[in-house]
Amino acid sequence: MSTGSVKSETSSLNVYSKERNVVIKKIENVIISDAIKTNGPNIMDGLTFLDGIFSNSISVCFFDPQYRGIMDKMKYGNEGVSRQIERSQLSQMSEEVISEFIQEIGRVLIPSGHLFLWVDKFHLCQGVSSWLKDTDLSIVDLITWDKGKIGMGYRTRRKTEYLVVIQKLPIKAKGIWTKHNIPDVWTEKIVGKIHPHQKPLELQKALIEAVTNEGEYVIDPCAGSYNVMEACKQINRIFIGSDLRNPYQENGTN
Ligand SMILES: C[S@@+](CC[C@H](N)C(=O)[O-])C[C@H]1O[C@@H](n2cnc3c(N)ncnc32)[C@H](O)[C@@H]1O
Repeated sequence: MSTGSVKSETSSLNVYSKERNVVIKKIENVIISDAIKTNGPNIMDGLTFLDGIFSNSISVCFFDPQYRGIMDKMKYGNEGVSRQIERSQLSQMSEEVISEFIQEIGRVLIPSGHLFLWVDKFHLCQGVSSWLKDTDLSIVDLITWDKGKIGMGYRTRRKTEYLVVIQKLPIKAKGIWTKHNIPDVWTEKIVGKIHPHQKPLELQKALIEAVTNEGEYVIDPCAGSYNVMEACKQINRIFIGSDLRNPYQENGTN
C-alpha cells in the first residue's frame, strides 16, 4: 500500500488512457514533521516545510517562486514608495534559493510525479534548465495562461503567464496523465483575489485531476492565496502547503 511506486503493468494501456496506475502512500508515510498539518495553512519557510516531507511520497507539486527578476525587468525600483506596494512586501527569492526548492521538490515527488512551475516571460526566454541541474526532473510540456485582462508593461502589456510542466523520472504519460482535454493555452480570470500573484483555480484543478486520483497528495511550498488547497478541497485530494504569510489572517477572511 505504501510503496508510492508506479505499477509496471502500464504497458497494456493506451497513452490516451484515463486510467491512473499509481499506488499512493498513507499519511504517516508522507509527513515527517509534527509541525506540518494537512489541508490548512502552515506558516513557515518552504524549505523547512519540504524538509518535513518524506522522499518519493508526493504526486504533484505546484511551485510559484517569488521572483525578484520580473520587478527588476519592469523597473519597479520605486515599488516601496507608491507602486507595487503589495508585491514589494513579499520576500523575494534568489536563483540559488529557487534551485534549492527545486532540488527538494525533486526529492519528495514520487517517480513520474509532476512539478507545475509558474514562470514569467523573462524566465521562459532565458530558460529554467539550470534550476533542474542535478535533479531527476525534466521539462515535458508548457501551458500559457491567458489572464483575460491586460496588465502592465512599457512595451507590450502583460496578459499571460506560463506554467512549465516538469516530470520526475521515469518520464511517461501512459497510466500517469489521465485527462486529455486540457488546451495548452488556458483563459481564466481570477475570481475573488486575495493575493497579488494568485493563479487560476480551474486550471490547477484540471491539472491535479490529470495526474492524481482522489486521496493523492498535492503540495505547494509557497502557497500564497492557498488556492491549490481550495482546488484540492473541491476534488478530494490531500493538500499540504506552506507560506511565510497567511493570506486568510491578513485579509480577515478566516
Ligand atoms: C508568487 S507568490 C505565490 C502565489 C500563489 N501561487 C497563489 O496562487 O496565490 C509567492 C509566495 O511565496 C511566498 N514566499 C516567499 N519566500 C518564501 C519562502 N522562503 N518560503 C515560503 N513561502 C515563501 C510569498 O509570501 C508569496 O506568497
